[in-house]
Formats: sequence, C-alpha cells, structure tokens
Amino acid sequence: MTTASRSTVSRAEATGRAGHVADVESLRADFPILERTINGQPLVYLDNAATTQKPRPVIEAVRWYYEETNANVHRAVHTLSQQATAAYEGARAKVQRFLNAAESREIIYVRGTTEAINLVAHSFARPRLRPGDEVLISAMEHHSNIVPWQIVTAERGATLRVIPMDRSGDLLLDRYVDLLTDRTRLVSLVHVSNSLGTVNPVAEMIRQAKARGIPVLLDGAQAVAHHRVDVQSLGCDFYACSSHKMFGPTGIGALYGRAELLEEMPPFQGGGDMIRSVTFEQTTYAVLPHKFEAGTPHIAGAVGLGAAIDYLMALDRDSLERHEADVVDYAVERLRAEPGVRLIGCPTRRTGAVSFVMDCAHAHDVGTIVDQAGVAIRTGHHCTQPVMDFFGVPATARASFAFYNTRSDVDALVSALARVRKVFA
Ligand code: ALA
Repeated sequence: MTTASRSTVSRAEATGRAGHVADVESLRADFPILERTINGQPLVYLDNAATTQKPRPVIEAVRWYYEETNANVHRAVHTLSQQATAAYEGARAKVQRFLNAAESREIIYVRGTTEAINLVAHSFARPRLRPGDEVLISAMEHHSNIVPWQIVTAERGATLRVIPMDRSGDLLLDRYVDLLTDRTRLVSLVHVSNSLGTVNPVAEMIRQAKARGIPVLLDGAQAVAHHRVDVQSLGCDFYACSSHKMFGPTGIGALYGRAELLEEMPPFQGGGDMIRSVTFEQTTYAVLPHKFEAGTPHIAGAVGLGAAIDYLMALDRDSLERHEADVVDYAVERLRAEPGVRLIGCPTRRTGAVSFVMDCAHAHDVGTIVDQAGVAIRTGHHCTQPVMDFFGVPATARASFAFYNTRSDVDALVSALARVRKVFA
C-alpha cells in the first residue's frame, strides 16, 4: 500500500529520515487526539498500556482502505480484491520485518495477544500435553497468559507452575531454573509486565529453557511499543503482540511462530480461507499462514497495523527509548517524593508503567479525581489479580507511557494527586 503512506509524510518520518534526536513536541502533532481537552483541561494521556493513541498515517491508512480499496481478500480476481490482498499481505511482510521473523508465513494475524496465546494453547499445547506434564508461567502474568493455560492443563491432566517474584517485582531467576524440569512442556512468559513495568530478562530465560529443549512463548503486548524486538535473536518459539498497543487499530494483532512448529500444529478455527479442499468426508488445510486464519479477516486493521509499523520504523527509536526512559524515571522520582503515595514494585529494569497506591483514597477514586484534571490513568487490577494479591492491594493506579509523553505530563499527574489529597485526606 501505499497510497496512504505516500500521501502522508508525518513528522515521524521526517524526524527519522533526518536522524535527529527525537523531537517529541513535533511528534505529538502526529496524534490528533492529543490536542483534545478533557473536562476543560488539555488531555494528559497516561493510559498507554491499555491502548496507545493513533498517529495520522494510521488513521489515514484505514480511511484509504475503506474509501478506495475495500474488498475481500484472497477470494476474487477483480482488481479491488487484488489490491486489498496486496495491502493485507504487504502488512504481514511489515510485521515480519518489525519482529525480524525469518519468513512472512510465520506471522499469523489474530485479534490480539489474547487470541494469539489461546491459539498456542489450543493448537500447540493441547495435543502435546499428557498427565503429569507442566506448563510454566510467571507470577506477573496478565490473565490472558494464565487462564488459557489453566483451561488446557486442567483438560489434559497437566499442571500449571508459576515462577515466583520478589517485592521489587523481579522474577526469582534461581527458582525459574529449578522449575525447568523434564516435565516442562512450555514456558509462557510476559516480556514486559503491564501492571509493574518489569522488563524480564527474557533472552537469558529463553536460553535456559532452550538448553533443556523447552519451547518458549513470549507475551510481547507491552514490549513492542517501547523496544525493538528480534524474535530470531531472542530465540523464542512464539511471540504474541497487539496492534492497538503499538499505535495501530484495535481488533488485530500478530502471533509469530517458528514455521516448523506452526506446520505441525492443527488449525485453531475452521471455516473459509483456511482450507485447501473440502468434501463432506474430508478437508485438507491451506498452507501457512492461512491455515490459522479462518473467515474474513480484519483487513482494515491489518492495513492500519502496517501503517503503524511504517510509522514506528521511521522513528529514531533509540532516541525515543532514551526519552521515554527519562520520563518514566522522572515519574518514579516524583511519585516516590509525593506524600501518601506508595509505589508498587521497583523492578531492576522497567519500561512503560508505574503502579502506585495512595493512603487516603482507593485507586478508583484517584483515577476519577485526576480525570477531572484531564489526566487519563488506569485504575483497578489491570487483569493481573495475582499481582494485586501478592502486593496485598485490591487495586493500583497506573500511569503508563509512550514516546509522546513528556515530563510535563508527569507534573500534571502529580499536581492532580495533590487534589486527591485535598478531597480525601
Ligand atoms: N492489558 C491492558 C492493560 O494493561 C488492557 O491495561
């Protein structure tokens, strides 16, 4: 595609091409929603772990698809369908390059990270698990990396084991090594924790699992917007991510799987487009990646995801990573200094998210009051109830960041917390 990306040269592309240090103020202008006011105040968007905002080229790509190219893919010889197919498959090649997968057939479109993990649970784990086998996850998993394994291990008489963490929110790596045994059939691990911001040492953890021949899935939902991911150098077998958490549309994501494993796996869902031939007696399946993509896919979503990848890859990501780290460090420093605020977790390596509680108010009240000042944060258990139980809190307030956030966004949050104290203390 590329009417959309050709027609919209964003500041991101201009900045990236020139190789300048990130000019965050001008990048912010790529995101129309950041110009909004909320409750009479400029929007301060600190809920990026829930979903990121969309830059103009992504919005434009979706518009371009629906206005100029809308047709079903892989099904017709007419020009429009051919163009839609080219855009859809072109976006898959972009995902391949983004994750540095060896081949584009190793990229399966899914609805998001949750569906990707369920696909692996259904098609990889279920046929392999036997009574007594184990699946290993960590203490800081999102529910989407717990529940599918509970379902499949219960069904197969297998056991779910959990790598513990410490009060900093770091995994206990010596316990991890002990938990890797000849019963372990899969390690399924979060790359970056959505509630604590912990960046797990996944490269080393993968190396340890692979040394024992154990396959590894990484939940990359919270990683891809912040860091470059190279699935080949990580050596993982599966990598799951969501478009909407990396500046693309909702409703689409990607599962990377090693071709050799995907080839062996049965389909996840049956229907149109995933078959080679169908009779009432027997069906044979399409080749990768289509074997796993039954039904009409989210074509506009794929096109938008491709545009998000173009946008991200045109950025000077090293410089933005440094900027984001500075803003997150500043948030930690300011929140730590705030009376009545307690940080939940202080991991060795953090990206994206800072969780905290206030002694004067429940997290939901904190979220409501700061919203009145235009500050959007998430409050609750963040789909990580076991993390809340571990820290002995019912919920946290969580500020989560993207490259377009600045130190002044942190200042706005901290001033809004003063209001919370005024109301509740
Ligand atoms: N998993 C998303 C979050 O952490 C929705 O908010």
